[in-house]
Formats: sequence, C-alpha cells, structure tokens
Amino acid sequence: MELFIIGFTGSGKSTFGRLLAKKLGYKFLDLDKLIKEREGQTVQELYKNRGNEAFRAVESDVLKSLTGLDDDVVVATGGGAPCYHDNMLWMNQQGVTIYLQASAPLLVGRLRQFQNKRPIVQFDSDEELKNSISNRLEERRPYYEKAQLFLDAARPDPDEVKKFLSGLV
Ligand code: S3P
Repeated sequence: MELFIIGFTGSGKSTFGRLLAKKLGYKFLDLDKLIKEREGQTVQELYKNRGNEAFRAVESDVLKSLTGLDDDVVVATGGGAPCYHDNMLWMNQQGVTIYLQASAPLLVGRLRQFQNKRPIVQFDSDEELKNSISNRLEERRPYYEKAQLFLDAARPDPDEVKKFLSGLV
C-alpha cells in the first residue's frame, strides 16, 4: 500500500507522514529528499538553477518511480506535486491520497518563519505573504480536493487514516 500525503507547504506533511508511518509500521519517504538524492542538488538549488518546468519534470519522474515497491510506504510529497503533470491522477490510481487541509491563516502563521528558505515562500511584507498564500491555495485547491481522504492540518489524526484503510478491505 502507498499512502501519499499532499497539501500546501507548511501543512505538516513530513511531520505527520513520519508519525503515520510509525503508527502503521510503514516505511516513510520524503519526495523532496528522494529528488535530492537523485539529482545531487536540493529542491531549492534545482529550482533556482533549472527553473519550475525542469523541476516539475524531475519531481513527476521521481514520484512515478515509486511503483512496485516491496514495502508499504507513506510518501510526503512537495506542496506543488499534485498540481503538475498527471501526478494527482497517478497517485490516486497508485494508492491512497491524504490531504492535510490547512486554512490560509494557519499557513501564514507557520510560513512567516520560512522566508527565503523555500522557493515558493518569498515575501517582503505580511500583506504580501497573506495574499500570495491565499492566491496559491485557491489555484491549488482543485487539485488537492481530488484526494481520497481529508484531514485537518491543525490536528491530523492517524486513527482517521487507520479507520479509512480498514474500510477499504
Ligand atoms: C513546493 C513545495 C516544496 C518543494 C518545492 C516546491 C511548492 O515542498 O517541493 O519547494 O510548489 O509548493 P514542501 O511542500 O515540502 O515545502
């Protein structure tokens, strides 16, 4: 079984993914880390050196290499991954997609501290950060909402995932 955690930057995908994997006895994979291992550059460097389009091609490729695995895995994806190529469709066919749904105010609070560390979080003022998150969230919402399971990013509960998975069998 493959579980894909999706959601905006700052929604807590890696933290929750790691916890969930531990609870379920699954392996944990972080898509951004796998990209770094394959390309020998961080996502930030890749983005800067080769641009969005090239980054999204690599991202999709690395994502789709996660097929036919021997282990059960929880994969934390990058915030933009569901929104490019046919990644969302692919993930939905491949396993279970779990959306960590975060409101814009929650994200603003969390992302304020990440200025300049993440390519999509660049801002000069609070107002700019707020607007940029709200706009991007609106753009991405239709993709995120194709997920099979929605969890509240403020308090994601691994038991809800367990319940969902037991309903699948
Ligand atoms: C991105 C989110 C990042 C990373 C890249 C692009 C995005 O991952 O994949 O910087 O477009 O939202 P996180 O969601 O883990 O920050």
